[in-house]
Amino acid sequence: MSEVVLVTGGSGFIGSHTCLELLDHGYDIVVLDDYSNSSPIALDRVRELSGRQFVAYTGDIRDQPLLNRIFELHRFAAVVHFAAKKAVAESVRIPLDYYSINVTGTVALLEAMMRHDVQRLVFSSSCSIYGDAPGGPLDESAPAMPTNPYARSKWMCEQILMDACYRHDGLSVAALRYFNPIGAHASGLLGEEPLGEPSNLLPYLTQAAARRRPPVTVFGADYDTVDGTGVRDYIHVEDVASGHRAALGRNDIQGFLRLNLGTGVGTSVLQLIRQFEAATGLTVPFTIGPRRPGDVDALVADAGLASEMWGWHSTRTVADACRDAWAFALANPAGYTDRAMAGP
Ligand SMILES: NC(=O)c1ccc[n+]([C@@H]2O[C@H](COP(=O)([O-])OP(=O)(O)OC[C@H]3O[C@@H](n4cnc5c(N)ncnc54)[C@H](O)[C@@H]3O)[C@@H](O)[C@H]2O)c1
Repeated sequence: MSEVVLVTGGSGFIGSHTCLELLDHGYDIVVLDDYSNSSPIALDRVRELSGRQFVAYTGDIRDQPLLNRIFELHRFAAVVHFAAKKAVAESVRIPLDYYSINVTGTVALLEAMMRHDVQRLVFSSSCSIYGDAPGGPLDESAPAMPTNPYARSKWMCEQILMDACYRHDGLSVAALRYFNPIGAHASGLLGEEPLGEPSNLLPYLTQAAARRRPPVTVFGADYDTVDGTGVRDYIHVEDVASGHRAALGRNDIQGFLRLNLGTGVGTSVLQLIRQFEAATGLTVPFTIGPRRPGDVDALVADAGLASEMWGWHSTRTVADACRDAWAFALANPAGYTDRAMAGP
């Protein structure tokens, strides 16, 4: 019988791609999402692409009675926990919301897991935990130096999960520290479509290229990097999704494990814009603006441990991601709408 996995935040960017990856590889899934930053249409697309059905509950990850009901109705083999707020600049503005949703939400979920004897969790952590850590590429032993409330909320979650693993024999947690997920599903049916103005670079860039947004602002051109703009390790979202499948496929994770999901290759903002232009033949309008609070010069993964332990590594390039993100933007000019469900 297939294993049933609860996916919180499963309607979001990484969640929807991971749901599809899990369904395509024989897992059953149940989704919990409040759609505060996503559309349920993404889940319809997952059903369409996989040819599989699943239940999706609408609600807040902090809602204990709802969590109880869900855990009573389904026997989960594992949980993948994406539900969170993720915009660095917003987290500086409304830090308490970030601590409430990201940290309290994780505790609520963990408590429900404990109550219902569910022992395996894959947690969405973030490279932002490394923050101002010196040097690079960064492996998992690099010091945590988070520089903003979002990153601190993820760091706190890791500490909480570690303490829980210490206390509860049998609990196994894989905290996957993603670097910068970008791109879209090769079908053009799933992609990154946050509600409101995108806080991540590539969805903003595609919407600016499609003239749905004003020109891109490059935040800071005076960083200590190849061309002065921030350097990040961009990883295709389908590779991130396959990293979750790799984590769920392991039954040898004992206690708490932290693992980078990155490519090991750094790309500056200007280089990403040029790669996008080369992949699409478009010209991207941009202006240079001031640095954003909480941003850092460069964050690039040492992705060796995931490869060594699980044989997992990224297989797609930044150019692939730019091409796929643009295909999604072209197929969905108004974002997720019912009309586009009929297919490209
Ligand atoms: N995208 C990135 O650059 C990145 C990098 C590192 C880590 N992460 C982490 O990965 C996870 C997924 O990120 P994403 O890019 O897919 O973001 P996303 O916003 O697209 O997905 C998050 C999902 O969680 C839902 N959600 C938010 N608050 C909720 C709540 N209180 N209750 C229930 N559902 C709620 C949203 O509606 C959304 O569907 C997040 O935990 C994020 O912090 C993302």
